[in-house]
Amino acid sequence: MVAFDGMLADGFSMPVDRHANASDRSRSPLHGRRIAVTGGTAGLGLALVRELGARGARVAFVARKRVGVERVERELVGTHGVIGDISKKEDIHPIALQILGALGGLDILINNASTLGPPQLELLADTQCEDFEHALATNVLGPFRLTKALLGSLAGSAREGYGVIVLNISSDAAFNAYPSWGAYGASKAALHHMTRIWSEELKSDGIHFVSYDPGDMDTALHRAAVPDADPSSLKRPEVAARELADAVEIAIVRSVGAPEAMATALVR
Ligand SMILES: NC(=O)c1ccc[n+]([C@@H]2O[C@H](COP(=O)([O-])OP(=O)(O)OC[C@H]3O[C@@H](n4cnc5c(N)ncnc54)[C@H](OP(=O)(O)O)[C@@H]3O)[C@@H](O)[C@H]2O)c1
Repeated sequence: MVAFDGMLADGFSMPVDRHANASDRSRSPLHGRRIAVTGGTAGLGLALVRELGARGARVAFVARKRVGVERVERELVGTHGVIGDISKKEDIHPIALQILGALGGLDILINNASTLGPPQLELLADTQCEDFEHALATNVLGPFRLTKALLGSLAGSAREGYGVIVLNISSDAAFNAYPSWGAYGASKAALHHMTRIWSEELKSDGIHFVSYDPGDMDTALHRAAVPDADPSSLKRPEVAARELADAVEIAIVRSVGAPEAMATALVR
């Protein structure tokens, strides 16, 4: 399995190399890469759309609310917004088609959109079955369906020799049994394990699957989960986005001319 981070969920640490950081964005290996980010209008997703776009990537992003999608498109000219709900089966193919229509193919998919399930954390015994189902639909089935719908295009890109990555945003709740984080934690554990299996099944095709824990960030999702957390103790999503973009750049650089090195760059 491919897994990396500044703070990876299973304890692995990605080596940090600032060879192509924010001060040297014009030479970024992400320049021209076609990248799709789900949940791109707030929190980490929005920070990623900004960061990847600033490094010259061609970015499409997905979110449910039209007003947010249009706001980000206006702010970040050149990005392509897609309105859709990844938890809904019927939205997946329209989302995939719009991503491919906008970008003409895909090199990197970032499954970032997520939900806690219930509006705020609660013990499993108090969790509505429908809220648990919603967590699984958003955090596991959505990434599964979207990845599946985009696989042909990702495989085509891999055949052309690009470093192709599917990056699933995980959480330490996938590994730690935090009381009251049941629906979210179980869904993130399933996402993490699914990532490992995708990785085993598709690494010979040049499609690399990554499970990434960005760490605790000051976002709406975190405020819903832990309303009394001190924001100054949390990572800014912009910082997490920079770390993630740096790590992906390293992986791409190492894979040039040696696709198998992509995995070496990312695997612990
Ligand atoms: N925040 C943390 O401390 C933390 C810690 C560890 C891991 N993570 C992970 O990091 C990722 C980003 O979290 P965040 O805190 O940045 O979240 P966030 O601030 O709540 O932002 C969520 C984004 O996803 C979109 N979204 C939500 N449900 C969607 C759906 N069903 N279909 C399409 N888009 C959807 C939202 O826009 P719409 O509402 O318009 O759809 C919004 O753009 C998540 O995978 C989360 O589990 C977060």
